[in-house]
Amino acid sequence: MGEVDQAFIQSIQHRANLDTIEIEGIPLINLSLSHTTDINLLVSEIGNACKNWGFFQVINHGVPLELLDKIKVAAKAFFDQPMEEKRKVKRDEVNPMGYYESEHTKNVRDWKEVFDFLIKDPTFLPASPELEDDEMRTLSNQWPENPPQFREVCQEYAREVEKLGYKLLELIALSLGLPSNRFNGYFEDQLSRMRLNHYPPCPCPELALGVGRHKDAGALTIVAQDDVGGLQVKRKSDGVWVPVKPTPNALVINVGDIIQVWSNEAYESVEHRVVVNSERERFSIPIFFFPSHYVMVKPLEELVNEGNPPKYKPYNFGKFNVARNRSNYKKLEVQNIQISDFKII
Ligand code: OGA
Ligand code: NI
Repeated sequence: MGEVDQAFIQSIQHRANLDTIEIEGIPLINLSLSHTTDINLLVSEIGNACKNWGFFQVINHGVPLELLDKIKVAAKAFFDQPMEEKRKVKRDEVNPMGYYESEHTKNVRDWKEVFDFLIKDPTFLPASPELEDDEMRTLSNQWPENPPQFREVCQEYAREVEKLGYKLLELIALSLGLPSNRFNGYFEDQLSRMRLNHYPPCPCPELALGVGRHKDAGALTIVAQDDVGGLQVKRKSDGVWVPVKPTPNALVINVGDIIQVWSNEAYESVEHRVVVNSERERFSIPIFFFPSHYVMVKPLEELVNEGNPPKYKPYNFGKFNVARNRSNYKKLEVQNIQISDFKII
């Protein structure tokens, strides 16, 4: 296979088209209230973006811009270290937090390395995915000694983005005709996590992907990206892969599987992937908002009725999360757990 290990090679239909195309991109929403004056206008912009795209970018989001710069510098400083330094915080099947360089998405290896940590540390999680097993275990972060200040910058960034996460969940709740705080209770013991992604230059960007096509399993994802580009979204209207244009000071937001279930598919979680390139490394920093382990995820009662019956059976988020985590470590013979497993046909 030459320079790239077979494990990274995408099947032909999933490979990137590397031609640059100019097409209608995802919406850009200004969250500053002085700009919109009318909150209802903002709420309807958010609602339309969730309905039509599942993805949008926000500016004037309240996350201090110097912190956005600092987290990107910290990510680079961490990944620039020698492998033996990064391996000191390597994650494994027991502790899924820390450094990792061989994640698979849909059974193909991603061209990336990552560092993961929990927003709320420690948190509790079921010990196994088996429904009859009610044993719990504690999950906690692994922090590297180097680079200095890494932990402080990560935690400060996560605190600020968490505030934005609640603000967006409130706007999304309003856009569905629900009280603004409708989702807040689900996040009291949140399993949310933050990830630093590093995509090194790749000798064969036409064969491998930084992250293969996938949907995010949480409620909402907020991503900071640098100016390199590579994130692509599968446009709902026609299935075309649309690039998410790096926009100065903006954050990328996407609806995850849980909002799809809560909204009974009024808003859908959309497939996305990351294309790599042969010249520039890329960094991105997502925060995945995950509810508490004991939350039973199901279509909200206010949003279902006789004409619009629930499209999903309830599922326990902790169990789902444990089952999903397990599958990230090795190439499995079968597809990992999906919300479609709970779909009522
Ligand atoms: C992810 C993801 C996008 C990016 O990590 O789930 O979709 O731009 N990342 O790195
Ligand atoms: Ni994703």
